[in-house]
Amino acid sequence: MAGDERKLLIGLDIGTSSAKGVLVDDKGTVIARASGEYPLHVPRPGWTEQDPDDWWHTAERVLRTLAKKAETPAVAVGLTGQMHGAVFLDANGEIIRPAILWNDQRTGAACEAIEATVGREKLRRITGNPALTGFQAPKILWLRDNEPDHYARLAHVLLPKDYIRYRLSGTFATDVSDAAGTLLLDLAARDWSDEILTALNIPRDWLPQVFESPHITAEVSDAGAMTTGLATGTPIVAGAGDNAAAAVGGGIVKPGVALVSIGTSGVVFAHSDTATPDSSGELHCFCHAVPGTYHLMGVSLASGGSLQWFADRIASEEAAVAARLGRNLHDLLAAEADTVPPGADDLYFLPYLAGERTPHMDPNARAAWIGLSLSHDRRHMVRAILEGVAFSLRDSLTRIEAQGVVPERLLLGGGGAHSQVWRKILAAVLNKPVAVQQDQEGPAYGATVLAAVGAGVHADVQTAVATMAKMPAADDFEWPDADLVANYAPRYERFTRLYPALRSAD
Ligand code: XUL
Repeated sequence: MAGDERKLLIGLDIGTSSAKGVLVDDKGTVIARASGEYPLHVPRPGWTEQDPDDWWHTAERVLRTLAKKAETPAVAVGLTGQMHGAVFLDANGEIIRPAILWNDQRTGAACEAIEATVGREKLRRITGNPALTGFQAPKILWLRDNEPDHYARLAHVLLPKDYIRYRLSGTFATDVSDAAGTLLLDLAARDWSDEILTALNIPRDWLPQVFESPHITAEVSDAGAMTTGLATGTPIVAGAGDNAAAAVGGGIVKPGVALVSIGTSGVVFAHSDTATPDSSGELHCFCHAVPGTYHLMGVSLASGGSLQWFADRIASEEAAVAARLGRNLHDLLAAEADTVPPGADDLYFLPYLAGERTPHMDPNARAAWIGLSLSHDRRHMVRAILEGVAFSLRDSLTRIEAQGVVPERLLLGGGGAHSQVWRKILAAVLNKPVAVQQDQEGPAYGATVLAAVGAGVHADVQTAVATMAKMPAADDFEWPDADLVANYAPRYERFTRLYPALRSAD
């Protein structure tokens, strides 16, 4: 009987290294997963770009795979993805140049210009944040100042996941959590700030309409249906930035548990019922995907990205061994790191390969191993990476707690969460019980929860989370090892002094 059929939902995440999709039913049971990778371009040091067409063609393939596995057509699609990127389109919807990404650092001068024009205090009061190089608004000013021919053609600026929405439906729309990462959103009004737009000379009609995350924004068009296998007319909900979506998928929709995610970036994400920007500007304050609520977030730019860099650029020997044994390279590296003592015989790694946000807010920050001696080898270097990333996440947690948001437990998401060695280090450095986020798709899974609300399958995000989100049981949490906590405490204190000392030596 048609009425008894389970309702299916699709979530799609446009990540930095790949697009990941998941097909689930209305109870949250995963029916199918699909993913596909695309390249990241670094045309100059500090620049990161991707081709939005690569995202789209990968998304088409991922959606096609999922649509084939669906016994009945999905009742809604939820979109999520890397935040802050700028997709520049002309009046015909054609891509003007490659998208500039969240970890791109070219916009220092534009950030200074924004703070000078709007005023730092006003910017923080309205948008909740200072001007940061990765955010979208300074990228628009960079285009104006550096590529005037491209700027002259500009008619639409979209965030990464919203470009996929455009290709699926022909509609320009976004959601509040991702829009908050542009620096153009009025955090209290949850809509574009005319005051900021006027000050920066950015026409409002370049920007998509803003919706709360579970709201329906568009429907899949005939053209979108043709190449993806989705049914024409399938509703597309607003969705969320990847961190807010991952939080929804992990049930982080109220205070108590925070999400620590180690993807390319590293994030500590805590729910907040009110907009409470911190005065130092070291944390982000954005809208949450739960209508009317907010979140505080500390962001490190190269967390999983640091280990990935080591795996790609340095670990050729280990890569050969991993290939021969049929083992995952990251697991092999972590296992080797586990053979050296905590503290890596006093070797430290500052994970600032891509500059840094929390806490230094310095696009020119650079990474370093500090304390190398003749006794160290690659195992120590990897252990120092795992520990340095954990220390940098503690920098974020400390600042979130200083805002009065004190999580009791931590949910670990992203690829890094699956390393048992890294989890043990994180539990001890952050000194909290930790558990791995159970839905492996993180953001894509959270997008299905939002889609379920939009489709009317569940009444609201809280209800959908109660049915669909997979929260770890109390027994699933790993408690920090007391000896390790004591070992890491003074090391973290030393870590916090290293970067300021290096910067002053500049
Ligand atoms: C958050 C941020 C990153 C990206 C990565 O502010 O820049 O976490 O969203 O996908």
